[in-house]
Amino acid sequence: MTDRAGEVADPAPADPGRDVAGRAAAGFLHRYGEPPAGRWAAPGRANLIGEHTDYNDGFVLPFALPLRTVVAAAPRDGARWSVCSEFSEHPAEFGADEVAAPGRVTGWAAYVAGVVWALREAGHDVPGARLAVASDVPVGSGLSSSAALEAAVLAALVDLGGLELTAEQLPRLAQRAENAYVGAPTGIMDQSAVIRCRAGHALFLDCRTEAVEHIPFDLAAAGLAVLVVDTRAPHRHADGEYASRRAACESAAELLGVPALRDVPAADLGAALARLDDDETRRRVRHVVTEDQRVLDTVELLRAGRIRDVGPLLTASHASMRDDFEITVPEVDTAVEAALAAGAYGARMTGGGFGGCVLALVDAARADATADAVASAYAERGYRTPRFHRATPAPGAHRL
Ligand code: GLA
Repeated sequence: MTDRAGEVADPAPADPGRDVAGRAAAGFLHRYGEPPAGRWAAPGRANLIGEHTDYNDGFVLPFALPLRTVVAAAPRDGARWSVCSEFSEHPAEFGADEVAAPGRVTGWAAYVAGVVWALREAGHDVPGARLAVASDVPVGSGLSSSAALEAAVLAALVDLGGLELTAEQLPRLAQRAENAYVGAPTGIMDQSAVIRCRAGHALFLDCRTEAVEHIPFDLAAAGLAVLVVDTRAPHRHADGEYASRRAACESAAELLGVPALRDVPAADLGAALARLDDDETRRRVRHVVTEDQRVLDTVELLRAGRIRDVGPLLTASHASMRDDFEITVPEVDTAVEAALAAGAYGARMTGGGFGGCVLALVDAARADATADAVASAYAERGYRTPRFHRATPAPGAHRL
């Protein structure tokens, strides 16, 4: 990947010896003095559409990215876990006491300890292990680096321990690690995406039932590309704002007398809004209800092979996040506007918000020009130079 403005990185590594899987194995050998028993990869994700709908029991449509986190691992005796990572100088080691209750391991290793904790809580006999982590998923960019780490560790421990778990059960375990051990009140989208996605497809997930449909999303065949712009805007109070949006949605559902905002049909939105006194609450509800409908409309278009026509829905989703849910920041809005002005079919922020990434649906031949246009708009405003990735829908977590 490159951070030079105006160049879209080719996801295929040129030298397999230096790609992320090679780095994980080398990191393992360096730290533990022996080769790993195996390597497990999990991708970052982008969400095509459906933001802040997952914890409202609604619909999302993410796809996995070619950017991956790889865990090299080997079993060890006893209930002890050692982990090192190329993104930290501090290796961590913990035992049964530290994973007996949330909060005892902190920092990046909490994601690893959280997975061990969640598995043990669910009654699994988790093997002791040594682990080494390498990752191409940028941290803090809204591309689910944390879910990628959880999923890669989970895949490794499940395989090493021969644990009886289906792919359908894994996302909830990873989410539990994040919600209850790390303490971030996220929904089920990211963990589902990084575990259940398939190459060439977007994952249509009903977050209430966890039913999935793999929707063909073959950008290359349609001459299209999704350009991901990592705005590198500092996250501003993202954790607190996320939690407050979630709380606002839950209390709105209570006021409306429904289990979750998913239960307000788009056709009844006007009547539902009329029952709410507070303008801010009305806007939060309007975002969630219209966003669920946009996911359903996007799925219909993709099923009909009409990828280009999805563009206006993406842009409408962005306007809704900006004006009604109020989770965008100027860098994000600028990237969307510049991509649209450069001819993108549609563009929107992807992920939880308050910084992070924008995705733009563009003709493949226009990807570099679109990146240039965004980079120029950033330079004009004195923003940090953005980074660009071309997002080919990739597979979910698997053993290499
Ligand atoms: C973050 C959370 C997800 C989801 C998105 C917003 O990525 O982890 O559960 O709520 O924000 O759509």
